Amino acid sequence: MKALVLSGGKGTRLRPLTHTSAKQLVPIANKSILFYCLESISEAGIKDVGIIVGDTHQEIKDAVKDGSVWGLQITYIKQDAPLGIAHAVKIAQDFIQDDDFVVFLGDNLIRGGIKGFVNEFSARKSNCQILLAQVAHPQEYGVAYLQEGRVLKLEEKPKNPKTDLALVGVYMFDSHIFEAVGAIKPSRRNELEITDAIQYLLDAGYQVNSHIIDGWWKDTGKLEDLLEANRLMLDSFTGSIQGEVDSDSQIEGRVVIQKGAKIINSRIRGPVIIGENTQIINSYIGPFTSINYNVKIENSEIEHSVILEESAIMDIPAKIADTLIGKNVQITRSNHKPRAYRFMLGDNSQVWL
Ligand code: TTP
Repeated sequence: MKALVLSGGKGTRLRPLTHTSAKQLVPIANKSILFYCLESISEAGIKDVGIIVGDTHQEIKDAVKDGSVWGLQITYIKQDAPLGIAHAVKIAQDFIQDDDFVVFLGDNLIRGGIKGFVNEFSARKSNCQILLAQVAHPQEYGVAYLQEGRVLKLEEKPKNPKTDLALVGVYMFDSHIFEAVGAIKPSRRNELEITDAIQYLLDAGYQVNSHIIDGWWKDTGKLEDLLEANRLMLDSFTGSIQGEVDSDSQIEGRVVIQKGAKIINSRIRGPVIIGENTQIINSYIGPFTSINYNVKIENSEIEHSVILEESAIMDIPAKIADTLIGKNVQITRSNHKPRAYRFMLGDNSQVWL
């Protein structure tokens, strides 16, 4: 069994972060989304992993390296343009050869990992196994129609879905999928769709099994889902304090304070994670917040947010919530006259005041 992890793509829905960084490397509870994915592949006993990379290939390689940290052997496969998930499968044929394999979208998080599903697929010896999850807005996903547990039909982002079962970004295949990805044509958005490839398998009489998952699953491709994934991940944490907390500070609930972090005259209400060498001074950090390393927060209040490394938030008079802040961002109150909001924002930034 091999694994194919998709870490290319455009990431348009997470701009401006994705102008400069790979979305799969955005940290959830201070760990890259892609690292959770590689961990769960390793836990499933798979060693041989192909990673599809696009424009952000260097950043992905710098982060994952040879994969030995997870006991994995990594082969990087360059996709010249993000022409679809099924296209990524197609260009990986030389790497996969005749093995069975699991495709894992590098921006998806699945609670409890994939070990059980991989074992189930190996035991049932079907041609394909898909995972399904109930979602609130099925029109935003690929969906599956089932009859008495059998997969009848798949549809990509249906306008009027008559099911709430979405395809999770983890699929298991045997080598018949290469016949399918070779036969299908690009969709209206000019991508080779994995739903069309699986529909091809169904139409050709191959066996496609499905499994409705009961733990949570998140596709972190857009802001709300990324914050929700962060919330769910932090909710499963237990607290641990390795940094310093002064006697004027209060820590409530499950809070992780990583090495070298300093909490000074502040209140931290968990679940929260504070990264290495970060300083929180005269501030309030509320539930479901992940603050990465080397950040400084002073005289400010933040909750339900993700703050990336090397950023600073100082003297902000209103509470910051539901926010994603990139690397090395400075938000400060200025005493310059005339008083005004002053911004230097990258393309596709969004500000709510
Ligand atoms: P998507 O989120 O479907 O696509 P995207 O990354 O282009 O994002 P957006 O829709 O916001 O523009 O991709 C799911 C995962 O698969 C993600 O990790 C990127 C990866 N991917 C590839 O590696 N190659 C591809 O051709 C596509 C479409 C996605």
